[in-house]
Amino acid sequence: MTDQSGVLDDVRRGMIPAHIYNDAEIFRLERERLFSRSWLFVAHESEVAQPGDYVVRRVLEDSFIIARDEHGEVRAMFNMCLHRGMQVCRAEMGNASHFRCPYHGWSYRNDGRIVGLPFHKDAYGGEDGFKRKGQTLLPAPALASYNGLIFISMDPDAPPLEEFLGDFRFYLDYYTKQSPSGIELRGPQRWRVKANWKIGAENFAGDMYHTPQTHTSVVEIGLFREPKAEKRKDGATYWAGNGGGTTYKLPPGTLEERLRYVGYPDEMVERMKQNLSPEQLRVVGEDGFMISAASVFPNLSLVHNWPRVADSDEVLPFISIRQWQPISEDETEVLSWFAVDAEAPEEFKRLSYKAYLMCFGSTGMFEQDDVENWVSLTNTAAGTMARRLLLNSRMGLLEDGTEVSPQLTPEQFAGPGVAHVGYSEFNQRELLNRWADHLERPPGDAARLQVGQAPADARPAAVNGAVSS
Ligand code: FES
Ligand SMILES: [Fe+2]
Repeated sequence: MTDQSGVLDDVRRGMIPAHIYNDAEIFRLERERLFSRSWLFVAHESEVAQPGDYVVRRVLEDSFIIARDEHGEVRAMFNMCLHRGMQVCRAEMGNASHFRCPYHGWSYRNDGRIVGLPFHKDAYGGEDGFKRKGQTLLPAPALASYNGLIFISMDPDAPPLEEFLGDFRFYLDYYTKQSPSGIELRGPQRWRVKANWKIGAENFAGDMYHTPQTHTSVVEIGLFREPKAEKRKDGATYWAGNGGGTTYKLPPGTLEERLRYVGYPDEMVERMKQNLSPEQLRVVGEDGFMISAASVFPNLSLVHNWPRVADSDEVLPFISIRQWQPISEDETEVLSWFAVDAEAPEEFKRLSYKAYLMCFGSTGMFEQDDVENWVSLTNTAAGTMARRLLLNSRMGLLEDGTEVSPQLTPEQFAGPGVAHVGYSEFNQRELLNRWADHLERPPGDAARLQVGQAPADARPAAVNGAVSS
């Protein structure tokens, strides 16, 4: 392995070697040390609402079937046949009680157990030669969910998901728990961009600074009520647990007025008042900050924004969940879901979806603006000159480390973690510091499973049961 300690040291002092955004060796380390260990978002429980519902999702090269079995438990199973390794499920989503491998026809229940093995007796001599009992598709090493967001980890010893998310859960609730029913999703839209995966994650975590420049045209055409994108500097960024994000400063008013200001109808405001904690309501109602974009380390991002959906002053909020799925050092598959409170009025859901499609998703105006930068950046990072360049990612700090704008006090910002008003790169540094910590740690040994000889009754871990570890 090439020694990357110099790179990691630079990253930790906020100076970013430009080549990390397009470097095969770095990507190899990310795959081996980061994606092999971290909790990674794969699906939302509403996507597999009924027994038999499944979606197929990838973690780098590994394909997983995320399915709700006949007992209502959600499972994540490695999508590789135990016989010769064919991909068992080739559809992207659907409902099935069984999956049959297209190659030789082995079949599996939707909880992963083998049920059918053609010519079992003739080919293997029956159970003596190959024990079907207890054989299952390989479960994801760890599986857990929060507010219906399903995560898996390739590390059976991963810390509990709640611990991993930590205080970021406080902020995750604004997007995913506006009512007791949580959210429902549409999508994902899925497309590839020739850009490194870290750029999107960093951008959503804290880059309020790009809005006035990159998204000038979106502001000019009047998509937002606020006439100037510079409004962003009045917002705060926050970092808590393993995630962080940006906020907009709201005009003066009560909690109700402020939620109405971003377009929530009264009945949704009432439900939020019931469902969010006093502190969560205080951030909006008293401190006057409305959560906007955010990222959870390493590659999950969220958006909350409120554009105009018609030629009037009315705005309407939308929520999007998105994942930056790495394909290689210079290519990312973007998965982008529209999310909405499941109890929202139908008319709100319809217009909110429209608002989302205007801004994000494969045709969204923000998306187009952003990606142009990210592709260009990735391209340039591949060259030899990029290896000589340390990018300055110290925004928000003076040379001696003093903060340009001091950390907000608990009286100014009721949310957990560390928050600052104004443009800064605190959050991008938080993300990359975690990245550096992972890249530094050599991987552990992974357990192996021998097909046909594993001990009986090993069934894939279920979300509703204990997290497998
Ligand atoms: S590879 Fe699946 S049945 Fe042979
Ligand atoms: Fe953007």
